[in-house]
Amino acid sequence: MLSRRDVLKTAAAMPALLQAQSPNDTVRVAVIGVGNRGSYDLKNILKVPGVKVVALCDLDTERLDKAKALVSATASGEPATYTDFRKMLDERKDIDVTIIATPVDTHKMIAIDALEVGTSVYCEKPMATTPQDVRLMVAAAKSAKGVFQAGFQLRHDPRRRRSIEFIHSGGIGDVLFLQGYRHTGDLPHDTPWYFDRTRSGDNIVEQACHILDLFTWTVGKHPLRAFGSGGINFFKNDPPGRTTMDNYAVIYEFPDDLRLEFSHIYFDPPGFSGVKERVFGAKGAIDLATATWMERDKKGEIKLDVPDAAEDSTYLSLAAFIDNARAHKTPLNNAESAAMSTMVAMLGRKAIYEKRVVRWEEL
Ligand SMILES: NC(=O)c1ccc[n+]([C@@H]2O[C@H](COP(=O)([O-])OP(=O)(O)OC[C@H]3O[C@@H](n4cnc5c(N)ncnc54)[C@H](O)[C@@H]3O)[C@@H](O)[C@H]2O)c1
Repeated sequence: MLSRRDVLKTAAAMPALLQAQSPNDTVRVAVIGVGNRGSYDLKNILKVPGVKVVALCDLDTERLDKAKALVSATASGEPATYTDFRKMLDERKDIDVTIIATPVDTHKMIAIDALEVGTSVYCEKPMATTPQDVRLMVAAAKSAKGVFQAGFQLRHDPRRRRSIEFIHSGGIGDVLFLQGYRHTGDLPHDTPWYFDRTRSGDNIVEQACHILDLFTWTVGKHPLRAFGSGGINFFKNDPPGRTTMDNYAVIYEFPDDLRLEFSHIYFDPPGFSGVKERVFGAKGAIDLATATWMERDKKGEIKLDVPDAAEDSTYLSLAAFIDNARAHKTPLNNAESAAMSTMVAMLGRKAIYEKRVVRWEEL
């Protein structure tokens, strides 16, 4: 039997959050990486009730100062700042949750360390750049005291969530085919790691993972195999040293003879640009992003009723994260689901790079 001293010792060794589960307790947040995405996550986490941002970390001190000023101007007060995330995790014993928004190739190292010191982790998508790193992160999340949630915030987007619930409840009948595309201009050229496939995982992993996550959630299973083709046809050596594709198309085969087709183009003229996430079923087809569906034999669109449609998916995802961390609940976008979606993107990438049909078991 544990003595009172042992119980106190164990409690002292536990992360602060596990001792503070009341919904009224303040959740203390650290953000690592306050660049494009991290600063947006920061703005949103500051809106979540019961949250205090206690520490910020970035290699770039200008960004760090800007983020510090943003936090200091709120009720959260002045946060501590760090340029070394390891030092921050070692020094601060008051961090309940860590938000990670650094380049993809750093996720594994930072997320595992943040989980190991006992904080709950919200790590931006995709999980990592390689299947090996994804597996290490899933293992770390499994044995962690805190919860792990991935930044696949579109699972919290009210329209997409409603659409997928509608599909799961049989609204469009048996799912027969999924089709997605993302046709846009190029990514901002002032962020070099976006164009280095060893750092980003290439565009299918870093960018398309959102849509592939929605489709994987829709189907509820991973694909059996994939094939595809892609390359750099327009932005050759632009920016200099570019190794990421500027166009590709991929087809996945799921169990039950179900197919998913996805294409991604970065040289679309603005008028042609767009993002589509469509699911075709036996009774009709639905557009996930607008929660609009059409019945097979009837004319006219049907808009699903989405009462909270105007809510921002990033805010909802982060608010859910705080709730999950407090109550130790499994997130909708948890390590396993995020791993599967990231690996779906990696399956397509391998098929494209190796110009052959690649099976799931080969990852
Ligand atoms: N969920 C979404 O919709 C969404 C949107 C955009 C980006 N993202 C993801 O967010 C992450 C960051 O992307 P971004 O566009 O903000 O990139 P970014 O380059 O703008 O920001 C990354 C920041 O991390 C900092 N950094 C790098 N290594 C670090 C380290 N070891 N310790 C501390 N700070 C470090 C950089 O200095 C930079 O400020 C990526 O995983 C990306 O895929 C998600």
